[in-house]
Amino acid sequence: MTSESVLTEIKNSVLVITINRPDKLNALNKETIETLHETLVEAENQKEIRAVIITGAGQKAFVAGADIAEFADYSVEQGKQLSSTGHFKIFNFIENYSKPVIAAVNGFALGGGLELALACHIRVASENAKMGLPEVSLGVIPGYGGTQRLAQILGKGKAFEMIVTADMIGAQDAYKWGLANYVTTQEELLNKCFEITAKIVTKSPTAIRTAIKVINAGYNNKQNGYEVEIEEFGKSFGTSDFKEGVSAFLEKRKANFRGN
Ligand code: COA
Repeated sequence: MTSESVLTEIKNSVLVITINRPDKLNALNKETIETLHETLVEAENQKEIRAVIITGAGQKAFVAGADIAEFADYSVEQGKQLSSTGHFKIFNFIENYSKPVIAAVNGFALGGGLELALACHIRVASENAKMGLPEVSLGVIPGYGGTQRLAQILGKGKAFEMIVTADMIGAQDAYKWGLANYVTTQEELLNKCFEITAKIVTKSPTAIRTAIKVINAGYNNKQNGYEVEIEEFGKSFGTSDFKEGVSAFLEKRKANFRGN
C-alpha cells in the first residue's frame, strides 16, 4: 500500500517504507500511523517480503516525533488513547513483527521518531542522525515505549539522562552506546541496510520469526524467555524449513527455504 504520507517499494525481497512528510520532518500524524499500520499488516502475509526497512523522506529527518500540532488540545483521555493506539498499531506491532525490521535513521529521530527506531529490531544511522526523547520539554513523557525500550538498549543510567535532560545525541554516540548498530554516510545508509537484509533473505523465515518471538519473550515480564526458548526450539524440529536446512547442509547445497 502506498499513500502520500507512506511510500513503499519492494527491492530484493525487502519492503522499503518511507515516511513521507518532509515539510513536517516526517512527524507521525494519525493518517501516517494508520497507513503505516495497514502497510505492515499487508506485508506480513506477503511471503516474498522477507524483511522491512523503514526510513524518512528527505535529507533532514527520519521522524521528528508525533505530530505536536495534532495533539496540542488533547484531553487526558485522548492522550491515553493516543499512546495505546500507537503501541498497538505501530510500536509493539513492529517489535513483534514476524520479519526483521530495520530503521534506517537518516536524520532527526526525536520523540515518537526515536521510539519508532527503538521498536525496530536493528538500527543503522547516517552521520547526520540526531536522536533524543525531548518530550519533557513539552510537558509530557515519551508515550510510545521510549521509557521502556531506551533503557533496555542503553541501560537505565543513560536512558534516565536522555529522558530527563531531553538532550539529543549524535550518530557516533548512538553507535558507541549500542543505539545504532552501524553509522554510515547518508549516501551509504540504505546500502548498509541492504547488506544486512541480503543475509536475512537467505535464511529460514520460520526460524527468524521464532527467534524474534523468543528474544522478545525475555523482555516480557509475564514470560520466561528460557522456557519459551525450549518450547520453540523443540517446535523448530517439526518445520519444513528445518528439514530443508539440514538436508541442504548434508547435501552440500544452498537451502531453499519456503517459510513453513
Ligand atoms: N510535530 C509537528 N510538526 C513538526 C514536528 C513535530 N514533532 N517537528 C517538526 N515539525 C514541523 C515544524 O513545525 C515546521 O513546520 P512549519 O514549517 O509548518 O512551521 C517543520 O516541521 C520544520 O521544522 P523546524 O522546527 O522549522 O525545523 P528546525 O530545523 O528549525 O528544527 C527540530 C528541527 C527537529 C529541532 C524541531 O523541528 C523540533 O524540535 N521538532 C519537535 C521535536 C519534538 O519535540 N518531538 C517530540 C514530539 S512528542
